[in-house]
Amino acid sequence: MWEKRYQIGIVQIDQQHKQLFGAVENLLKALNTAPWDKAQAKKAVDYLKSFIVIHFGTEEIIQQEMGFAEAEIHREMHRKLIDRLHQLELDLIRSSYDIIPARRLANTLASWLMYHVIREDRKMAAAGEE
Ligand SMILES: [Fe+2]
Repeated sequence: MWEKRYQIGIVQIDQQHKQLFGAVENLLKALNTAPWDKAQAKKAVDYLKSFIVIHFGTEEIIQQEMGFAEAEIHREMHRKLIDRLHQLELDLIRSSYDIIPARRLANTLASWLMYHVIREDRKMAAAGEE
């Protein structure tokens, strides 16, 4: 899922993005493998949840250090995604890990990530070059 176009040029962040895209890919793989394996899906979701928090923390620290002008706005975007993920996970738990809310969570996260990395995270690398 990770492609060269997602590279922003900050090594630590690019590595984490690769890891994050890889984890989303694992969840998508679980969704496309019959029979539906709830345990595998739960493992993938739990990993994603914890790694996203670590990753957002890393980005926010780097932004702080470089004095990135949009750090506050960026932090707010991260916070909103965490809220959204929390909601989607609640739906998942309430349905006892049904495949439909699992698919919704994976798709939401995949499209958010692709958009966010290209549109927002890249601004951070550009600011570092100024
Ligand atoms: Fe970000």
